[in-house]
Amino acid sequence: MIEIKNLYKTFNRLQVLNDLSLTIKDGETKVIIGRSGAGKSVLLKSIVGILKPDAGSIKINGVEVTGLGDKEYDNIRRDIGLVFQGGALFDSLNVAENVGFVLNEFTKLSSSVKRERVAHTLSLVGLKGIEEMMPSQLSGGMRKRVSLARVLCMEPKILLYDEPTSEVDPITADAINRLIVEMHDKLKVTSIVVTHDMNAAYKIADTIAMFYHGQVIADGTPDEIRNSRHPVVRQFVRGESTGPVTEDESLKFGHVK
Ligand SMILES: Nc1ncnc2c1ncn2[C@@H]1O[C@H](COP(=O)(O)OP(=O)(O)OP(=O)(O)O)[C@@H](O)[C@H]1O
Ligand SMILES: [Mg+2]
Repeated sequence: MIEIKNLYKTFNRLQVLNDLSLTIKDGETKVIIGRSGAGKSVLLKSIVGILKPDAGSIKINGVEVTGLGDKEYDNIRRDIGLVFQGGALFDSLNVAENVGFVLNEFTKLSSSVKRERVAHTLSLVGLKGIEEMMPSQLSGGMRKRVSLARVLCMEPKILLYDEPTSEVDPITADAINRLIVEMHDKLKVTSIVVTHDMNAAYKIADTIAMFYHGQVIADGTPDEIRNSRHPVVRQFVRGESTGPVTEDESLKFGHVK
């Protein structure tokens, strides 16, 4: 369904993706882990076409998307929902307008159907009845859930979540993780979930891929990752500050001299 091959991306002189390849099967939930700055968000943005990779291939349902123009990409994008790491809400629009934004842009549904859809997705993320609130009045976790609702209301076939449970309390986090599992089980969506929460990763993933130095160094079932013998993977999933990876090394990697 999503096939990424030999992807490269450099910013100024910082090499972020360095020959990265990854396949996400139809209906699969793939969790991506890796240190801050490893390029996880860059990959998600490349899939939806916000960032253009320097080289390599991204195929979505067999269609090569890296060379597509804006119009053609819009057709692909309609089926993909990206829940941004920071929420990315429009500050001048209220919650209902934020959630319904894509419905207004891309569908011809009647306003009462749209209103119902917005109310339903808000209740799915545990925020019933906050339609009139403005983004500035929301907590970090609420903003996050509003951005999740905005994506869910489009009923996408592919869902990309960038740290959906950071900044939310543990109970809400569990509810969001359940929602991810439900989308997978009931609606058979294909998902990529970037998370730093290893417990959640083990619970929701079909497979887990770890990014390191611009590549995928491990890709397997939760059990395989938990029991990996790869020293870097072991250190990461156990959360140890001593090992082959030093605390400041991610700052040094990738700087092209
Ligand atoms: N638009 C951009 N312009 C310049 N550099 C960028 C841009 N986007 C990302 N980067 C750089 O690319 C690297 C990878 O960023 P990315 O956001 O993918 O990290 P991440 O793996 O998502 O980290 P985190 O876990 O902290 O979210 C970082 O060093 C970042 O500074
Ligand atoms: Mg990120």
